[in-house]
Amino acid sequence: MVTVLVGTQWGDEGKGKVVDHLAAQADIIARYQGGANAGHTVVVNGQRYVFHLIPSGILRPGKVCVLGNGVVIDPVSLAEEIRLVEKQGVNIRGRILIAENAHLTLPYHKLLDQVEDKRREKAIGTTGRGIGATYVDKYSRVGIRVVDFLDETIFREKLRTTLPLKNYLLETYYGEKPIQAEKVEEEYDKLRPFLQPMVTDVSLYLLESINQGKRILAEGAQGTFLDVDFGTYPYVTASHPVAGGVCTGLGLPPYKVNRVIGVAKAYTTRVGEGPFPTELQGELAEGLRQTGNEFGSTTGRPRRCGWFDAVLVKYACRLNGCHELVITKLDVLSGLEKISVAVAYRHENVLIKDYPLSSYVFSRVQPVYEEMPGWKEDLSSARRFNDLPLAARQYLERIEQMVETRISLVSVGSSREQIFQR
Ligand code: GDP
Ligand code: IMO
Ligand code: MG
Repeated sequence: MVTVLVGTQWGDEGKGKVVDHLAAQADIIARYQGGANAGHTVVVNGQRYVFHLIPSGILRPGKVCVLGNGVVIDPVSLAEEIRLVEKQGVNIRGRILIAENAHLTLPYHKLLDQVEDKRREKAIGTTGRGIGATYVDKYSRVGIRVVDFLDETIFREKLRTTLPLKNYLLETYYGEKPIQAEKVEEEYDKLRPFLQPMVTDVSLYLLESINQGKRILAEGAQGTFLDVDFGTYPYVTASHPVAGGVCTGLGLPPYKVNRVIGVAKAYTTRVGEGPFPTELQGELAEGLRQTGNEFGSTTGRPRRCGWFDAVLVKYACRLNGCHELVITKLDVLSGLEKISVAVAYRHENVLIKDYPLSSYVFSRVQPVYEEMPGWKEDLSSARRFNDLPLAARQYLERIEQMVETRISLVSVGSSREQIFQR
């Protein structure tokens, strides 16, 4: 049984929290794309954990957490994250597996990502974690995979083949200091014994586990509109967060994937640059940002905030084939007189009902809103759908109609217990 959990907006939908909830009913939790650009927050018993590479199922004792071949792995970041999580009292021993054919993020990827984005005429606002630069090397066929790294000789050979070109670019074009091969080797050699015991043939492991009746939960990072093909290109990440990414990112046959769950915030946020039709400014935006604590989990940047965009979420539900949708952060909307939802766009006086793949068009559309009454009640202690005030229930029911997908779970706070079935 394979279930995929996918973000239906621009990331930060609360996937970490929902994965922690669903992981109780899973045996294996697997990341299939992205890297340490992700920031997944889970709050349990007042303790806050932020995961960048480790799957958010790690807080459920005994569950196995997997990083598939589609993930780009920064071993420095992973080692630091494991150290922090262990310090918080989590036993990770034998519980993290890494695909041997996953690509490694190296120091030049991080530096190139940062200087490239600074030099761009229109910055993307990347997380600076080297994500795009690592995937570029993967597709240029000059990347270094985990399995190559484990063999010291192969690692040295590959590093010394690739580094001169990177240094040429860094020095000549970006005016940066070159990166010394010896320094990289020294730092990374220390990480080899740490990484080695976790490395395996993940595709085989997962298939055997499925055949034994184990339940796999695939944890998407980022979101549908950050997907390199379906997102708001070029303001996207470099991987495939969409549900289809699971097969290539974990090495699973498509017919093994049984269920797709979308996650959406009750409003919309975006961090980084790029078009955002329902973005709010001023008091309303600031209100959502403060109440929702909308600051990036990875970079601390303030998130841009706006109304729920049903055009986008409906498209995401169709594209990912969501069987159900989870709505998070409904509590954040309490106290608003009126709540708006984008139901269509207008572009040059033409009504558009679907998400346009042209960034030129998408960056110029005006949202067409439907207004709904708000509610005053604090929702944080709601534990059943019927605990919600009428206006909140009607808001969810209207969203269901608009995005043509059943809402299965509703989240009303960051803590583990603040989630319930529709
Ligand atoms: P992810 O990247 O999709 O895992 O989301 P993030 O963790 O980056 O951002 C979601 C933020 O909202 C985190 O700080 C969560 O602790 C918090 N959160 C999740 N669900 C809820 C909710 O229902 N209500 C509130 N108020 N906060 C939530
Ligand atoms: P989670 O998994 C929100 C955004 C960056 C930038 C763009 C490209 O926590 O939802 P990158 O570093 O990936 O090359 O940056 O994508 N971005 C995210 N935004 N949540 C994320 O992850 C993100 N990961 C990348 O802000 O706009
Ligand atoms: Mg996040």
